[in-house]
Amino acid sequence: MQEGLLDRIDKDQLPQHIAIIMDGNGRWAEEKGQDRLYGHFHGVESVRDIVEGSAELGIRYLTLYAFSTENWDRPQPEVDGLMSLLVETIHKEVPILNKNNIRLHVIGDLKMLPEFAHEELKEALAKTAHNTGLNLIMALSYSSRWELVNAVKNIGLDVQAGKIDPAAITQDTLQQYLSTSQFPDPELMIRTSGEYRISNFLLYQLAYAELYFTNTRWPDFRKHNLYEAIIDFQGRERRFGKTGNQIQEETQLA
Ligand code: IPE
Ligand code: IPE
Ligand code: MG
Repeated sequence: MQEGLLDRIDKDQLPQHIAIIMDGNGRWAEEKGQDRLYGHFHGVESVRDIVEGSAELGIRYLTLYAFSTENWDRPQPEVDGLMSLLVETIHKEVPILNKNNIRLHVIGDLKMLPEFAHEELKEALAKTAHNTGLNLIMALSYSSRWELVNAVKNIGLDVQAGKIDPAAITQDTLQQYLSTSQFPDPELMIRTSGEYRISNFLLYQLAYAELYFTNTRWPDFRKHNLYEAIIDFQGRERRFGKTGNQIQEETQLA
């Protein structure tokens, strides 16, 4: 099945940036009569498979929403378990990231993370900094509203310091103050688990992303599910406000 799906992907029309809301770990575990952390633990298998699948395809950027600012409000044992799992996984995966030429990035309010997480993250970022293949961006303690408020504060400070002229602020200026300033906007956003919402993820950057929702819970999501999402994406007409006729004419001219 996987081979057939893979053949249906047009390698010249790949999204260069895919963003994923990895949702449904808790329900997956509860449906099996297990603790929610069991679901998070199995979710790591999916992360591995999807990172590998993205790298094999030649996707340039993959952003994974792993922990939101709002997730800090979950019961403490779940938060602690998730933090340990995240840090442990990042630590263990560094050699595999290096073997596959994958560079790790982190976005989010990292001040909120426990001390032990800071050290591990710093090390993993440094150890993969030379890689030139897939850019794997982990959104940790991330929320879009936090990011936008942060950007506005920093723009304010730079205006005050005389570094920027408010009249000269453009979309490019704002983009430079976001935590994603080094990355292009995602063309495809996938959310698993059957929820149809954005949950404070990349609100600005997803302006023209194609959204793909699947009922599959994150711990069941594998490469073939990713291929299905990409095939669906490739069947869509992205119009960016223009008419279908204009887009078809532009495609014929290209
Ligand atoms: C996603 O799964 C992982 C995180 C939010 C950390 P959930 O833990 O949200 O699982 P559900 O949505 O409750 O099933
Ligand atoms: C979004 O999932 C955050 C992550 C996947 C990390 P949530 O499970 O926290 O989102 P809501 O609460 O269902 O909107
Ligand atoms: Mg959830």
